[in-house]
Amino acid sequence: MILVTGGCGYIGSHTCLALLRAGEEVAALDNYSNSKPEALVRVQKLANRPFPFEEADLRDETALRRVFEQHQIHAVIHFAGLKAVGESVQKPLEYYDNNVAGTVTLCRVMRDFGCKRMVFSSSATVYGSGNPSPLTEDMPTGQVTNPYGRTKYMLEEILKDICAADPEFSAVLLRYFNPVGADESGQIGEDPRDIPNNLMPYISQVAVGRLSRLAVFGNDYDTPDGTGIRDYIHVSDLASGHVKAVEYANRQTGARIINLGTGRGTSVLELVAAFERANGVKVPYAISPRRPGDVDVCYANADKARRILGWTAQMSVDDMCRDSWHWQSQNPEGYR
Ligand code: NAD
Ligand code: UD1
Repeated sequence: MILVTGGCGYIGSHTCLALLRAGEEVAALDNYSNSKPEALVRVQKLANRPFPFEEADLRDETALRRVFEQHQIHAVIHFAGLKAVGESVQKPLEYYDNNVAGTVTLCRVMRDFGCKRMVFSSSATVYGSGNPSPLTEDMPTGQVTNPYGRTKYMLEEILKDICAADPEFSAVLLRYFNPVGADESGQIGEDPRDIPNNLMPYISQVAVGRLSRLAVFGNDYDTPDGTGIRDYIHVSDLASGHVKAVEYANRQTGARIINLGTGRGTSVLELVAAFERANGVKVPYAISPRRPGDVDVCYANADKARRILGWTAQMSVDDMCRDSWHWQSQNPEGYR
């Protein structure tokens, strides 16, 4: 059985669905600090298969042990963590405690139960601002500018150390680019608690009338239209990447770092135009000052994922816009 920590969250819920559809046995664990159990109720309906999900906090070792005692877990896909960059600057201790200490506790329990396979959610943020795109996995990391990014960098290093100490341990460290979109059913999707920080949920909430207009953070970057370029990847493609990654973790040992991106960059204004075109809606926007900490261009070299996992992203930017809108327009208040 595969344990999915943070399984109720945005990427976790889509990955549970992909695993169930691939015929895997799945258990999910979440403390619901940034999600609602309704997401997993919907995943069960979509997959037409019940599966166990437990309310537990990563840092609660007793609760974790109970989960490992109840289920025969051979691999963990580890999404659970806090992810808001700005909040991490205000609350560094919460981020180090939740993300770093929580993962250390999880690894200790895995060791005690002889579970030696992990797929970990890292982020393209570990590349910092010093590396040119397309970003390759062998580029230097560690020059991150905020506590959230530092937790990802530290956890990559910790997992490499665990692999070095135990030759049977297998860790696949996935560096995600910018996950967007939703399952094509429109039943599950991204449900930010407050005003969104990220571009696609902001655009969707403007389009649905929850927010009045998008602030485009800077049009004086060194890019063709002056706005920032990112590698947006459909969350269902990302989820299928995890199905491949956990299969790969079963076949190999040691630490492997793999980008999950499309290898293509899209600017803010291109994404707005694609969203309007794909959905026949208007997205009013105004140019605002740059957001501190943003880089001009960030996209993946996606060759390693193709070579090692046999995985490439299939869905276009228009698919991402259509599915984000499908979710948002059917669920204007998210899971509430
Ligand atoms: P999310 O917030 O939707 O999901 C994370 C889930 O983990 C939530 O359901 C939350 O309730 C749960 N959680 C948090 N702390 C926990 C704890 N201590 N114990 C148990 N559960 C806990 O976020 P997401 O977008 O699905 O991201 C999943 C992972 O991928 C995170 O680790 C995130 O840092 C990483 N990541 C996300 C992005 C992105 O843009 N979404 C990009 C790069 C990396
Ligand atoms: C951000 C985080 C990154 C994290 C990622 C996924 C920062 C500095 N970086 O990445 O660490 O891994 O989210 O959670 O927060 N934009 C606007 N208006 C908006 C929102 C965004 O113009 O209201 C622009 C940004 O300037 C950027 C692009 O849209 O050019 C994408 O922004 P966003 O979705 O926040 O992702 P990242 O900045 O790439």
